[in-house]
Amino acid sequence: MASFISHTELVAEEIIPTIDFGILSNGTPDQRSDMVQALAKACEDWGFFMVVNHGIPDQLRDEMLEAFKTLFDLSDDEKRPYVGGHVLDPIRIGTGFNSKIDIGKCWRHYAKIFVHPEFHSVPKPLNFRNISQEYSKCTRAIGLELLKAIWEGLGIDESRVKAALKLDSAFQILVANLYPPYPNSGTTFGFLPHSDHGLVTLLYQNGVDGLQIKHKDRWMYVKPAPNSILVNTGDHLEILSNGKYKSVLHRAVLNSEVARMSVVTAIGPALDAIVEPIPDLVNGDSPAVFRGMKYRDYLEQQQSNSLVEKGALNLVRL
Ligand code: OGA
Ligand code: NI
Repeated sequence: MASFISHTELVAEEIIPTIDFGILSNGTPDQRSDMVQALAKACEDWGFFMVVNHGIPDQLRDEMLEAFKTLFDLSDDEKRPYVGGHVLDPIRIGTGFNSKIDIGKCWRHYAKIFVHPEFHSVPKPLNFRNISQEYSKCTRAIGLELLKAIWEGLGIDESRVKAALKLDSAFQILVANLYPPYPNSGTTFGFLPHSDHGLVTLLYQNGVDGLQIKHKDRWMYVKPAPNSILVNTGDHLEILSNGKYKSVLHRAVLNSEVARMSVVTAIGPALDAIVEPIPDLVNGDSPAVFRGMKYRDYLEQQQSNSLVEKGALNLVRL
């Protein structure tokens, strides 16, 4: 059974913050400083924002979507080696939310590939490797630059946080979600409410809306500006910032007429980094609210249990 939601709980009138990546990377010091503040505010008030002027060529993004579409269209035999594996297998193809729990539910198809620190790829389609390598590299550079500005906004030392998270070996996963059309829909979930496990997640969709975020206790539609990348903050930014930047709850609904596709890439700490609140943000007035846990263990627990919403964070909450 699919889950249904009511449109009456939705608000859509608020405008999502926009971050101009061009200013973060090439602005004057004053412009950059203003944008760092805007980013800090977006992280604190929303956990969600649109990034414009990010420099990823439209063609590369379209090719990435197309390559994933071709991958989904391969025969079951060709996809079989990647179906039903363990969460830490570097390539997985499946349906539903959790491959162990949601057998047979196919309103969401996904492909998940680990692309950093080790790069993995599927052999087919033939152009997949080149496109995904380039796409991963570009999105990782954007994600790491955003994180750098986030550390700056938090007033924490970049080299310390990079060392604590072992960011040179940052874990990056490339995911595609394919949501087939669902008759009489628009109110049926393709993806249940959840937060993402990493530090930041970057999302690009095929022009079909369906993503909703929970903002100030209300669900709202997200309508990204054309060519913008949607970014949300994840659980490990919440842990690291000792709860200052909360990961945002989000979900996806199906479209009744057309298939929706999203390409999502999450950037997190190294899998073997033990993440805890950064000491710069912990003091007598704000004691640590999370304990340390190895990122790999968190990922495994979050993905293999049917934890609801932000339940995984309770694993480390003090
Ligand atoms: C995800 C996710 C939403 C979407 O992959 O974590 O939240 O719109 N996807 O596809
Ligand atoms: Ni998500």
